[in-house]
Amino acid sequence: MKKLLASILSLAVVAGLGVSIATAQDGKAAAGAEAEHATPHYPINKPREQDWSFAGPFGKYDKGQLQRGLKVYTEVCAACHSMNLVAFRTLGDLGYSEAQVKAFAANYEVQDGPNSDGEMYTRKAVPSDYFPSPFPNHEAAAAANNGAAPPDFSLIAKARGVTRGFPQFVFDIFTQYQEGGPDYIYSLLTGYQDPPEGVEVAEGTHYNPYFASAAALAMAKPLSDDQVTYDDGAPQTVDQYAHDVSAFLMWAAEPHLEARKRTGFMVMVFLLIFTGLIYLTKKSVYANKEH
Ligand code: HEC
Repeated sequence: MKKLLASILSLAVVAGLGVSIATAQDGKAAAGAEAEHATPHYPINKPREQDWSFAGPFGKYDKGQLQRGLKVYTEVCAACHSMNLVAFRTLGDLGYSEAQVKAFAANYEVQDGPNSDGEMYTRKAVPSDYFPSPFPNHEAAAAANNGAAPPDFSLIAKARGVTRGFPQFVFDIFTQYQEGGPDYIYSLLTGYQDPPEGVEVAEGTHYNPYFASAAALAMAKPLSDDQVTYDDGAPQTVDQYAHDVSAFLMWAAEPHLEARKRTGFMVMVFLLIFTGLIYLTKKSVYANKEH
């Protein structure tokens, strides 16, 4: 038993060491990001790491934050970005009642049909419908946005985890870093700035050193202070809006994150106990054998 305790203890020490090395590494990366301005690698600046309530093995979504994020999405981003894999009914996860979800869905119009005359028609959305696109098709979306169609938001928080490269991704295993998507979206939304001297951006694009595929993108800075009214007293700043909408998009992309983390933790506990039992079994089976 003593040996077992000792091995569990040493495992914990090794894991702890991994975490502290990883933190030191993160600090170095942040310092290095500033020096990378002149390189043609995109994004020019690495996403800035933020504190998220859903980070780590016991991470949980902050429902108040998700509700604020939904507000930012509906009042600002939904003018251009669809979210057509997310159904209104799932908003129940954010703490809304069935009646509230129904009323929320009724604000949207969706296309349905054909009716008995063979024609498509529009009707008020119901909870089983999905967040519709503000544009009739991809081409219309691109034409209205300087040739670049705004991407659908259903999985954007999973699709934009900027690659961290070696050795960082090794440490990420220990720190369980999975917030690359929200860090990226937050950094993009708060990263608009004037282009540095000598850098020309194409007409209709906006300089942003956090954009993953170029120095400038077709989306103008979408957020400004006091644009969205919060009724829970949270600050009405670009920084807060960006945090809230990024958290909301993480929920949209991974609504079952909490259950996954809970299950993962149980599995780790089980494996630890199981390892101990197997070890004791081996000891007892071979107890009377000579080495
Ligand atoms: C006026 C239209 C418009 C609004 C409003 C808007 N966007 Fe965009 N967004 C775009 C367009 C267009 C692109 C594509 C840009 C490109 O590829 O050059 C885009 C791209 C993005 C991307 C992807 C960037 C990438 O890495 O490819 C994210 C993330 C994003 N928008 C977030 C948001 C958020 C969050 C909001 C609300 C706070 C928002 N947008 C509001 C038009 C808009």
